[in-house]
Amino acid sequence: MSQPKVFVTRKIVQAGLDRLQNEFDVEIWEDAAPPSREVLLEKIRGCHGVLTMLSEKVDDEFFEAAGDQLKVISQYAVGYNNIDVEAAKKRGIAVGNTPGVLTNATADMAFALLIASARRLIEGDQYIHNGNWKSWEPLGHIGWDLEGKTVGIVGLGRIGETFAKRCQGGWDMKVLYTSRSPKPEAEQKLSAVRVEFEELLERSDFVSVHCDLNEETKGMFNAAAFERMKNDAIFINTARGGIHVQPDLVQALKTGQIGAAGLDVTDPEPPSLNDEILQLANCLVAPHIGSATTSTRNNMAEIAIDNLALGIDGKPLRCSVT
Ligand code: NAP
Ligand code: GLV
Ligand code: GLV
Repeated sequence: MSQPKVFVTRKIVQAGLDRLQNEFDVEIWEDAAPPSREVLLEKIRGCHGVLTMLSEKVDDEFFEAAGDQLKVISQYAVGYNNIDVEAAKKRGIAVGNTPGVLTNATADMAFALLIASARRLIEGDQYIHNGNWKSWEPLGHIGWDLEGKTVGIVGLGRIGETFAKRCQGGWDMKVLYTSRSPKPEAEQKLSAVRVEFEELLERSDFVSVHCDLNEETKGMFNAAAFERMKNDAIFINTARGGIHVQPDLVQALKTGQIGAAGLDVTDPEPPSLNDEILQLANCLVAPHIGSATTSTRNNMAEIAIDNLALGIDGKPLRCSVT
């Protein structure tokens, strides 16, 4: 019997590639850059499953191009805002993602951005490389303390809670949060307090975004939100670039409306080299690497390929978003 046909939109870890080659009639997109839309639609024709990254728009046009035999979209990420899940449901196409296994790595990334922003680490590194370091400076490179501060978490889900645990347990921070539903367990364990968004903005020394990108959260960090924040607040976003309005963030950083920002996500991704977000000394930008550790990426591959195989067999996925 012929193997099911699968398209994979980028190279993944070797163990994953080996398994894909064994189990499917697979084509893997080898370039570091994603396939163009035109090429993507061409490549998925006749596929039973597609392993996607967050850069691929999966919508009716995509499903039409693939054909009726398509059974499953397996997203190599936990976030799936690039996928029209309702359209998939209508067509009976399963959609899987990779939750849980990337929680620690992404929470660590948020913390790395926070501490690096607070202690102006990248500025310091560039200062040395540019030949400017002459002596120990009693007045140079002054940053922020973390201990005992108030952190506001927008979206106390898996990653938000794990980040909060690090802040509360390690640095004795007070935790405020917003969420669609209350989180009584986290409130108990972390003494976290659920507040309205506006109150969180006004009271937090550090604000970290951990909600998914959805209709409600799109652009929620706009000029009005930054205006409510403290002038020395640090804004951290490891969730999705679309949750902040980037020109408004640039303005807030330029005018001292807020103190600094650490971003693992931008809008768009990647930003163009002349994007103002890359020209600010008080903004640290990482190339969307929250889940980029060896074991995390291996675990993501395992789940994503399980999802692919199960979906093609018409069985319930290991991690389904529907
Ligand atoms: P999760 O467990 O589903 O957490 C998301 C949380 O956001 C949920 O608790 C949800 O609240 C909350 N939320 C949704 N809409 C909200 C709103 N309007 N206001 C406040 N809170 C809201 O997901 P996760 O595994 O922690 O992942 C979170 C996100 O991180 C992903 O969707 C993805 O975009 C991003 N991510 C980025 C990286 C990276 O590489 N930088 C890696 C992994 C994930 P309820 O619980 O009440 O529904
Ligand atoms: C990465 O951004 C993810 O959603 O897993
Ligand atoms: C700094 O290096 C100090 O010893 O305080």
